[in-house]
Amino acid sequence: MTSTERRIAVVTGASAGLGAEFSRQLAARGECVWLVARREDRLEALAEEIRAAGGACEVVVCDLTDDVQLAALCDRIAAEEGLSVLVNNAGFGSKSRFADSTVGPQDAMARLHVLATVRLTHAALGRMGQNGRGRILNVASVAGFFQSPTDVMYCSTKAWMISFTEGLCLELDGMGVSATVVCPGFTITEFHDVLGVSRSTVPKHHWLKADYVVAKALAAMDRGKWICIPHWRYKLYAMIGNVLPKWILHPLSRRRRRRNDAIRANETPTPSD
Ligand SMILES: NC(=O)c1ccc[n+]([C@@H]2O[C@H](COP(=O)([O-])OP(=O)(O)OC[C@H]3O[C@@H](n4cnc5c(N)ncnc54)[C@H](OP(=O)(O)O)[C@@H]3O)[C@@H](O)[C@H]2O)c1
Repeated sequence: MTSTERRIAVVTGASAGLGAEFSRQLAARGECVWLVARREDRLEALAEEIRAAGGACEVVVCDLTDDVQLAALCDRIAAEEGLSVLVNNAGFGSKSRFADSTVGPQDAMARLHVLATVRLTHAALGRMGQNGRGRILNVASVAGFFQSPTDVMYCSTKAWMISFTEGLCLELDGMGVSATVVCPGFTITEFHDVLGVSRSTVPKHHWLKADYVVAKALAAMDRGKWICIPHWRYKLYAMIGNVLPKWILHPLSRRRRRRNDAIRANETPTPSD
């Protein structure tokens, strides 16, 4: 297979959760998946699984908050003739008040959710524009439709991803290249374990499965839709976030945060929750 026939899908945050699932499903569709994240052992284990299932992939160890490593990945992406899909998925959450926490994690979140998305997308679009085809898929969150105390940077950066993708979608019209943003609600991954937040703070029926979210996102991407909000419940929440006036939304948000704080204060979170 020549480099132009080979279809390459780049997935960031592939070592866990949604990114691992994006990688599995894209590999099953015949893409050669670049598995991008920091934890090499986890990427190698996924690569082994994908190859055992007959798929193709490559492990790319990269800390996307590091300028040098990010630039090296952008250069590789821009040079890859077979580039067909870029999934900007890597991300993490927050649970401390913005003013009370050190600036390091806030800076890292801005770098990962915003700067890395900008740079990788720009590099990919250069190549996809020349090819006259390609798909960008950004993983935001339904949190991007809201604002919430202790999630200030998370909600803001995810709102930015939604807005950025909408703009891109309009700009790319007619180029053969599409941009899609997926806004998942609560999904069972390692996200809340990394945060040290128990899943019991969220009602059981709110949790989505990663394979469901990824299948919905890829189907929307294939159809060239600009936005995908998996599950009717989260479509409804997003609509509420868009239409309700702030004088109703803000007290609701404060009340939810107080309730969650109280639950967290009374429990010791465990990774297996
Ligand atoms: N789970 C949810 O409820 C939920 C809801 C809405 C939106 N989302 C979004 O979905 C995306 C995926 O999250 P997830 O739920 O799958 O969480 P996860 O299981 O914790 O996976 C996060 C991934 O991001 C990678 N990552 C974190 N920092 C990185 C860095 N500096 N450089 C490169 N990779 C980095 C992690 O890999 P390494 O640690 O190996 O680098 C990991 O592969 C995120 O953008 C998140 O905001 C999740």
